[in-house]
Amino acid sequence: MEHTEVVKPETLDDLIKILHKIFESDSINVEEVQGIMEAYDSNPQDWVKYAKFDQYSTFDGCSKKSNCTWKNRYTRNLVDEGNGKFNLMILCWGEGHGSSIHDHTDSHCFMKLLQGQLKETLFEWPDSKSQGEMVQKSQRILQENKVAYINDSIGLHRVENGSHTECAASLHLYSPPFQSCQTFDQRTGHRNTVKMTFWSKKGERTPFETTFSQENN
Ligand code: SIN
Repeated sequence: MEHTEVVKPETLDDLIKILHKIFESDSINVEEVQGIMEAYDSNPQDWVKYAKFDQYSTFDGCSKKSNCTWKNRYTRNLVDEGNGKFNLMILCWGEGHGSSIHDHTDSHCFMKLLQGQLKETLFEWPDSKSQGEMVQKSQRILQENKVAYINDSIGLHRVENGSHTECAASLHLYSPPFQSCQTFDQRTGHRNTVKMTFWSKKGERTPFETTFSQENN
């Protein structure tokens, strides 16, 4: 039986280089992308420069021993544009922060935990003819270094940092990249289209833009 070895990315930069290579191909092998993202051992030194917070927040290294000081809403920080094939970003979640229930605009979504834990709740698409509470399919806690995958055929999800003492950081890869998605009201299934923006790009605060995260809905 043929066995393909997964090259271990030693740094985030290594991982980005390998992802560029993988995405030269037009067909995406989900297991391959998941495998390579999981093979990278998160090292805050690699990614702290991208982990930006809003003006009322600071980053204190958020070690397991210290309570973090990430406040307000989660931020979306663009790390790499993947030659137009994917967007790679770091999302920073303070205590209690969460996203709205949302879809992924027909893209692949890979999500790796860089630090902390996040809860992912999966929902079925709402029935467009009737209004009512959305149906929850499953729930799981994502642990550090693990990689979750979702696309629209799997369903919709919400991601939350349920901790009151620890922040979390996650690395998201969306392919193809998208700038808007649909969010859903859990009680009615009613949907809204929202624009998604970045709090920072490549380590620099995004200028002159009203940053908007799904949490605002
Ligand atoms: C998430 O998966 O909850 C994050 C959504 C986003 O990209 O803002």
